[in-house]
Amino acid sequence: MSCPALPEGFDFTDPDVYQHRVPLPEFAQLRGTAPVWWNAQPHGIAGFGDDGYWVVTRHEDVKEVSTKPDLFSAHLNTSIIRFNAAMTRDQIDVQKLIMLNMDPPEHTRVRQIVQRGFTPRAIRALEDALRGRATRIVEAARAKGTGDFVTDIACELPLQAIAELIGVPQDDRARIFDWSNKMIAYDDPELAITEEVGTNAAMELISYAMNLAAARKECPAKDIVSRLVAAEDEGNLGSDEFGFFVLLLAVAGNETTRNAITHGMHAFLTHPDQWELYKRERPETAAEEIVRWATPVVAFQRTATQDTELGGAKIKQGQRVGIFYSSANNDPEVFDRPEVFDITRDPNPHLGFGGGGPHFCLGKSLAILEINLMFHALADAMPDISLAGDPRRLRSAWLNGVKELRVRYG
Ligand code: HEM
Repeated sequence: MSCPALPEGFDFTDPDVYQHRVPLPEFAQLRGTAPVWWNAQPHGIAGFGDDGYWVVTRHEDVKEVSTKPDLFSAHLNTSIIRFNAAMTRDQIDVQKLIMLNMDPPEHTRVRQIVQRGFTPRAIRALEDALRGRATRIVEAARAKGTGDFVTDIACELPLQAIAELIGVPQDDRARIFDWSNKMIAYDDPELAITEEVGTNAAMELISYAMNLAAARKECPAKDIVSRLVAAEDEGNLGSDEFGFFVLLLAVAGNETTRNAITHGMHAFLTHPDQWELYKRERPETAAEEIVRWATPVVAFQRTATQDTELGGAKIKQGQRVGIFYSSANNDPEVFDRPEVFDITRDPNPHLGFGGGGPHFCLGKSLAILEINLMFHALADAMPDISLAGDPRRLRSAWLNGVKELRVRYG
């Protein structure tokens, strides 16, 4: 199908587009005219040695792709929709060691093990510690008067939460935070993080986590590391598998939650009626609407394992299929007035955490807890917070990121 209204050469994974905005009007066009659309690309630009990918825009179709791992593989070309063109196939294939890029049955085995660390009980156990941290983060920012909401507030809790979850000793946390920050977002030249710095940080983090796993194997403690690696039998992770799991947590749990919190704050500041409502009533539905509104992960991808048909398009075996959560979360077939930020929206079947298949976000409960704790702390301690500048957006091919948001803490 064609989509004549899009400018020649338009690419839904062009980092220069996301530096300015998420292309919501273009998604709406596709949903109406060509819901599964072939986005041609210059050969090899995404790192996969091919000439484009399918853009899946409707809520229903994103769910369909997400829930059929036999037909749509997360492994063949990984879930990441665009790498740097200079990346070699070997560098891409290394990413297959993280569970986000595995297919069943390998994925099922790893997921069953790591799930033990994310039970409702395990997440509840973090609540008091994280509430205390959220309060201290907000107090420290308030003392400054004005500042950057992203670095002062939104970054901190997600980093602390992951360190808390895996039981990283306090003394090591600064190093973990430094590595995590360096791995994120090297698409943005302004951050001056080269791919080499990012890769080195990833390697150091893996090696740190492997050593932690080995130490806990020797001498188990009461933390998730011990629970995931303790016994040698097949129901546990090896130290190397644990290393890659921690790497995934550092990427999947940080940038996403920090952007949900930042976009959420910006939405409140630009929709004062919703901020007043939040401060007064603290509706439980708010966190899910913040994630829908933010949709921090614009898209992941799958690769067709055989010829198939989706939304009227004929997809060939081996072709890449982009599942655009940002588009699904604005689909008027599913959401009444999706362009409205409504913290009482209920039901809210958004796909910000994925389309419901085997890779559905493992950290969802933790993320929702963090968002709730953060906004409660903000509403309590700085009810008069106000904007002091426009958000400065991250240059990225698949993250809806903000790198700076100047505010007055009130
Ligand atoms: C608002 C915050 C977050 C958002 C928007 C988000 C979004 C997502 C999405 C879209 C996926 C892929 C789903 C799929 O392919 O079907 C995912 C997977 C994942 N997320 Fe999250 N995430 C968030 C927070 C977290 C946190 C806090 C953690 C852990 C500390 C986490 C850990 C993971 C892991 C481990 C996976 C891979 C699961 C698998 O492959 O089986 N996420 N997330």
